[in-house]
Amino acid sequence: MKPFNISEIRKDFPILEQAIKGQPLVYLDNAATSQNPSAVLQATSDYYREYNSNIHRGTHHLSQLATERYETARKTIAQFLNVTPEETIFTSGTTDSINTIANIVGLSGKIGKEDTILISHLEHHSNIVPWQMLAERTGCQIRVIPVLDNGTLDLETYEVLLDESVKLVAFNQVSNAFGTVNPAAKMIKMAKEFGAITVLDGAQSVPHGAVDLRALNCDFFAFSGHKVYAPTGIGILYGRKELLEELPPFKGGGEMIKEVSFEGTTYNDLPFKYEAGTPNIEGAIALGTAIEYLTQFDKSEVNAHERDLILAGAEAVSKIDGSTLYGPDDRIASLSFSIEGIHHYDLGTLLDNMGVAVRTGHHCCQPLMARYGITGTTRASFAFYNTMDDVERFSTSLKKAVSMLR
Ligand code: ALA
Repeated sequence: MKPFNISEIRKDFPILEQAIKGQPLVYLDNAATSQNPSAVLQATSDYYREYNSNIHRGTHHLSQLATERYETARKTIAQFLNVTPEETIFTSGTTDSINTIANIVGLSGKIGKEDTILISHLEHHSNIVPWQMLAERTGCQIRVIPVLDNGTLDLETYEVLLDESVKLVAFNQVSNAFGTVNPAAKMIKMAKEFGAITVLDGAQSVPHGAVDLRALNCDFFAFSGHKVYAPTGIGILYGRKELLEELPPFKGGGEMIKEVSFEGTTYNDLPFKYEAGTPNIEGAIALGTAIEYLTQFDKSEVNAHERDLILAGAEAVSKIDGSTLYGPDDRIASLSFSIEGIHHYDLGTLLDNMGVAVRTGHHCCQPLMARYGITGTTRASFAFYNTMDDVERFSTSLKKAVSMLR
């Protein structure tokens, strides 16, 4: 393990060195997109400079090199998730992964009009809309696990909502909007007692350390590269082998094929069955590099540092008159708040003028915002490369912005 030395770590992220509007950048929009360390930037550039070519297709040297690096990345990611490479499918991101799950489950006929899909009130639109689209096609019902006032899920009602009609349960491990950590293992176990397929959205959990999918025992898992220190346009869909083997493919063409004739086509083995067309090769290699980078550090040190940051951030916000913090006190990474009488958009704009990047708005969680009677929040989201100085600048800038807007 590499020692967790924040000043050394900062040097790995060149983008953080710049000034925005004359002020050193304080980047607190990591839940939307995180920054890439130099090792990841190098991996992307090496691909184009040294071995840009298609994979699994050529006998020539460059193609073989690209194939080997692509498959090595898959192995690294599979190991990180504690699953097999066959179960680790490259997609363009969490949204693509969840849409793929909805489509392959839908095509299989496993969900009919008497059935129910159970999702939670804490979900991002991309873990709501694909299920609504599937419900439109199949006539099935969607039920929603309510969220309590403190931003955690109402598990008593979850238990009541689970019955024999529930064929699929989908929820996030960590909420992007409030930072709530859901008791995923327990919720998956409860769903499995009714034989439901379980889908876990890991977009906001993977950036904060290893996720053991065998221990969690979910059937499907999704996450995005760009939230885990890799580029945009790459992500992962994990699916339990037996299920992926049983379910049909959704997209046709490219590496998902074994043999084609006009009489019919046979599909390739896993994981290729679900990777149609030329994939995002450099993105996959860069994602493998990002995971290697992240796993150099001791997870408990990373998490302790992130915890200090968010606690200090929460304290700064709570000192502002008229502030409301959303989510439970043990939230991770995302700190969502509103300030009475001040629109989140105005606050975000003033913070940006002071070099502090936060996200404002509904965070792609409109039903969640409606539940609290708000149109949006200001969200500061932290990564392990943020520092206590960043929190200090956030705090000072917030006070200044609030006094300007009042
Ligand atoms: N899901 C991303 C966010 O929370 C875009 O900001």
